Amino acid sequence: MPVAPAIRPPRTPAEWAAYYRLRYAVLRAPWQQPPGSERVPADDEPGTMHALLLADASLAANATPEALAVGMLQPTGAGQGQIRFMAVASAAAGTGLGSRVVAWLEEQARAAGLREIVLHSREAAVGFYERLGYVVVEPSHTLFGVIPHFLMRKEL
Ligand SMILES: CC(C)(COP(=O)(O)OP(=O)(O)OC[C@H]1O[C@@H](n2cnc3c(N)ncnc32)[C@H](O)[C@@H]1OP(=O)(O)O)[C@@H](O)C(=O)NCCC(=O)NCCS
Repeated sequence: MPVAPAIRPPRTPAEWAAYYRLRYAVLRAPWQQPPGSERVPADDEPGTMHALLLADASLAANATPEALAVGMLQPTGAGQGQIRFMAVASAAAGTGLGSRVVAWLEEQARAAGLREIVLHSREAAVGFYERLGYVVVEPSHTLFGVIPHFLMRKEL
C-alpha cells in the first residue's frame, strides 16, 4: 500500500524541478512573468528550508514527481524567519495542504531556534494566514503593480 507523501525538502533534480514548476505555475505564470522569475538567490543560501508535498502518484517507481504544495522558510536574523513562496496546486486548494506546509515550516523554524515568523501575504491570502495565527502588521509592497501585500507576523 502506498504511504501518504510526507512534507520534506526536495531530494532529486526531478523533485527540485517539480518544486519550482509549481511555484511558477501558481505564483508567476498567471501574471505572465518570465521563466526563472520563480527563483531567488535565497533559495540556495545555507539555512533556507524548502517544503515539498508530492502527489501520491509521484511515489510510483519511475513516476515524474508532481508537487501539490510547496513553501520556503528563510532565516532573516535575530531569531526571525520569513515564509516565502507558499503555493498549492489549484486542483488541491482548500484541502488543508497549505496549512500542513505552514505547520511543517513552523516546526523547522522552532527546531532551528527561531522565535518569530514574518511573511508578506498577498491580499487574497491574508485570511488563510490569520486562521493560522498570523497578525497583520502593516501594508507592504504591491507585486507586479497589481497584487497588494501585507506584512504579517507570528510568535512561535
Ligand atoms: C493561499 C494558499 C497557500 C492556501 O492553501 P490551501 O491549502 O488552499 O489552504 P487550506 O486548505 O490549508 O486552508 C486552511 C484554512 O484557511 C482557509 N483559507 C484558505 N485559503 C484562504 C484564503 N485565500 N482566504 C481566506 N481563508 C482561506 C480555508 O478555508 C481553511 O479554513 P478552515 O480551517 O476553517 O477550513 C493556497 O490557496 C494558494 O496557493 N493560493 C494561491 C497562491 C497564494 O496566494 N499564495 C500565498 C502567497 S502569499
